Amino acid sequence: MKIDKTNTHLKNRLAGLLDKRSIYNEPFAIPFEPEIFPLSVRSLFPDARQIFLEIGSGYGEFTRENALRNPAAGIIALEKKRHRIAGSIREQKVMGLQNIRWMVVDINWFFDEIFEDNSFDRIIINFPDPWPKKRHHKNRFISNALLSSLSRMSKPDALLEFATDYFPYLSDTLSILEISPQWKNMHGRGRILSTIPGRPVSFFEQQKRDENLPVYFLQFVHARG
Ligand SMILES: C[S@@+](CC[C@H](N)C(=O)[O-])C[C@H]1O[C@@H](n2cnc3c(N)ncnc32)[C@H](O)[C@@H]1O
Repeated sequence: MKIDKTNTHLKNRLAGLLDKRSIYNEPFAIPFEPEIFPLSVRSLFPDARQIFLEIGSGYGEFTRENALRNPAAGIIALEKKRHRIAGSIREQKVMGLQNIRWMVVDINWFFDEIFEDNSFDRIIINFPDPWPKKRHHKNRFISNALLSSLSRMSKPDALLEFATDYFPYLSDTLSILEISPQWKNMHGRGRILSTIPGRPVSFFEQQKRDENLPVYFLQFVHARG
C-alpha cells in the first residue's frame, strides 16, 4: 500500500499510536496489560504510608499538587484521554515527583478488575463529566456498581471525595451515597461542603471559581466491616 505522507489524518493517528507506546515505556505509567490485573498497589509504592486513587484526573494539576503536599502517599490516577496523561507525566517530571502512577483507561469499560481488595486510603473524583441529559446518565461515574467496586478496593475508614459544580449530579450522588451501607457522610447526613480548606484546586474547579460559580464537595467515609 502506498502511504500518502501529506495525509494529516493518517499522521495524527500514527502520532497517537507512537504516543501510546511512549506512555507505556514511561516508568510513571502503568501499562494496560491483562497479566498485571488485579494490580497490587503495594508493589507500586512499597514504602508509601497511604495510597490514593484519583478517577478522571484530566490534565493532572490536582494530582501533582496532591502528590507534592502528601510526599508519604502513593497516588494512582486514572484518565481515559491519553494525551492528558502524557502531558501530566511531562509536568510530573518537571516537578521531580516520584509518587504518582498513571493509567490510561476508560472506567466505564474496565474498572472492577483493576485493583486488589483493600487497596486505597483515599479516593478522589473531581468534576466528573456531568452528562445532564437523562438518557446519558448511564455514562456518569457514580453508580451503585461503582460504589460497590470502590468499597471493595477501599481500606476500612478510607475517605471518598466527590466534587462537582453541577447541582443535579451532586444531588443524585448524595442520594446514592446516603443510602449505601458502605459509605457514611463524615459531616452528618445530607451535608454538602462549598469548600475544603487546604485542598488543592483542580483545573475545572479553578475554571468554575473564575466564573464565580458555586462548587460542591462530598466527603464520605468507608464503613468498617
Ligand atoms: C470535567 S474533566 C475533570 C478533570 C479534573 N478532574 C479536574 O477537575 O480538572 C473530567 C475528566 O474525566 C475524564 N473521563 C471522563 N469519562 C471517563 C471514563 N469513563 N474513564 C476515565 N476517565 C474519564 C475526562 O477525559 C476528563 O479528563
